[in-house]
Amino acid sequence: MLFGPRGPPSVRCARDAVWSSGAAVCPLCARCCLILGGRRRPDVSAMLFRPRGPPSAHCARAGAAGLAAFAPSMAALGPRLLARCPLCPHAVPLRPPIRRLLSCPGSASADVSGVDQAPGAANTGPPPRSFSEVQRERWEQAQRTVLIRCPGRFREKPLLRFLAQHGPVSRHFFYQSVGLYAVVEFCQKESVASLQNAARTPDLSTESVIPFRSRFFTLRLKNSPSQTSEWPGVQCQDQSPPSSRKLMQLLCSAESVDQQLHALLRAFQLTEENCRLRHLTCSLIGDVAAAFFPDSVIRPFGSSTNGFGKLGCDLDMFLDLDEIRKPSASKTPGNYLLEYQVKNVPSDRVVTQKILSVIGECLDHFGPGCVGVQKILNARCPLVRFSHQASGFQCDLTTDNRVALKSSELLYLYGALDSRVRALAFSVRHWAHTHSLTSSIPGAWITNFSLTMLVIFFLQRRSPPILPTLDELKALADAEDDCVIKGHNCTFVSDLSRISPTENTETLELLLKEFFEYFGNFAFHKNSINIRQGKEQNKPESCPLHIQNPFETSLNISKNVSQVQLQKFVDLARESAWLLNQEDKSHLFPPRNQAWGLAALLLPSLPSGVSLSKRKKNRLANGTVKSLLDSIRGNGSAERATDDSGTRTAGTQA
Ligand code: GTP
Ligand code: MG
Repeated sequence: MLFGPRGPPSVRCARDAVWSSGAAVCPLCARCCLILGGRRRPDVSAMLFRPRGPPSAHCARAGAAGLAAFAPSMAALGPRLLARCPLCPHAVPLRPPIRRLLSCPGSASADVSGVDQAPGAANTGPPPRSFSEVQRERWEQAQRTVLIRCPGRFREKPLLRFLAQHGPVSRHFFYQSVGLYAVVEFCQKESVASLQNAARTPDLSTESVIPFRSRFFTLRLKNSPSQTSEWPGVQCQDQSPPSSRKLMQLLCSAESVDQQLHALLRAFQLTEENCRLRHLTCSLIGDVAAAFFPDSVIRPFGSSTNGFGKLGCDLDMFLDLDEIRKPSASKTPGNYLLEYQVKNVPSDRVVTQKILSVIGECLDHFGPGCVGVQKILNARCPLVRFSHQASGFQCDLTTDNRVALKSSELLYLYGALDSRVRALAFSVRHWAHTHSLTSSIPGAWITNFSLTMLVIFFLQRRSPPILPTLDELKALADAEDDCVIKGHNCTFVSDLSRISPTENTETLELLLKEFFEYFGNFAFHKNSINIRQGKEQNKPESCPLHIQNPFETSLNISKNVSQVQLQKFVDLARESAWLLNQEDKSHLFPPRNQAWGLAALLLPSLPSGVSLSKRKKNRLANGTVKSLLDSIRGNGSAERATDDSGTRTAGTQA
């Protein structure tokens, strides 16, 4: 395959069934094998190899060309392709042209999320759509959608028939929050109005109700079923992330560190349904805001939209009043100019506070499902915080947050450029969360947004770079991309197809290790992180961590981070790099009761002051992990094999 001859074929290689089946034979030396992920066959799972010395030049150089020769047969074997050289530590990525040959549209490899895409590979399907296209479509979908609180048991098909009286339903799903809910998307917006006309305001005997016609309904059964047990429950979409135990199972049954990172991404990223629910929630809040500002739009931003959100993350939204503010398109003839009568206040900040105050009140009093409304108007960025009980989202509502929306677009673009970006960022963010480096409570900790910036900066610093700098993205912009917000130039290219894919083919395993090494040794005391130029710069101020805001360049997005928190990050990064290096050096897979790779990094750390080697020993001897791993083995969910010497040779590494 991708490797030059290096001595005789390994025993395993020669012995393995895959070898004899001829499924994956090196066209150059007839000695090496491919690992096919995705549809793993029992014999193929036995083909994971451990690092043995440095990568061969041949391995990196000739891989793609060699593979092309037998691409059709490989394509037939499965959409996900992962190759690990038996002679060197590099899992072999497939270069873009080969990837294109091997993947079929609609397969996992053609997924826009790119989860299973080869490093550096261009998307094989249509290029990912631009951020604004996606947001526009989501907004339009949400406008045609309603939320229905359902009784505990009912029949799904009759409900859909009942709803279809108002127009065809294009999509629906159920989920559990505090109760059972249905999200129903109609094909036409008129159907929603028709449904609203058919609904009534409840008549409660003991309490009074504030009449409010929203798109959030309660479904009641006119006749209670006599035998509810005959009514099957509906299938619900899970809206919560997997438990730590489930995650450990997932990671320990992966076949490589690269697969671990992808598995974590798949398990935690927002599902299609969760994305729809987030946009629907914004749209429902928008209906409330529209009572005061008829042309306003509530737009989601942050991790709900930028591709880096994980199940359970908060829902950031802002009230966009641009439609109201923008000057009228039609020019009035004659010598007259008509202006609205308005109230004047001393500053933009006061405008924001007044608007948020009134919307906060409104949500509190009339917003169906909105509870725990807090008006935090004296913060640097005034906001209204509340829980949307029906969706389970913790919401932060601000106004006039166009720069943050642009930041979300930038992160979306970086995440869509290369499949390794989100996989690495999710793992780093999860690692930080596990070690309490981040918190949902505001304070001196590093934020997820800052961590994502660190990952982007690190990927810009690789050689060749995996991600372009913001200045490079700006140079690719056309006139339509021009964007200046409050004097800040926020211009960068929005069309992803104009950005050349990277030549860098490093594995996620390597990148994860190097990330920790890089930031474990970064000169935070004197340097600032700058993704606009993709290089470190002298710190303009004396705070512990300086990450330049990409658009408001005089600001530091990590100004809140204390020296103690930064040091904790650095210590843990060093420890994690050390752990990954130890695994590499051992040339052996760890014994069966040890977590490995990413799983080992997510085990609780020991207090500082304990030596690294002791930490490692303690982490791996962690009783919970042992019992977990034993239970995984007991369940048979993770087949493994150890050879006589006790080294791991099979695909699963629990
Ligand atoms: P989660 O932790 O998953 O919520 O990540 P997030 O990216 O949504 O972060 P957060 O909710 O803290 O902030 C929402 C968005 O606000 C971010 O995605 C950024 O676009 C923006 N943002 C957050 N912090 C800062 C900051 O310090 N400066 C600036 N300019 N923007 C910020
Ligand atoms: Mg957020």
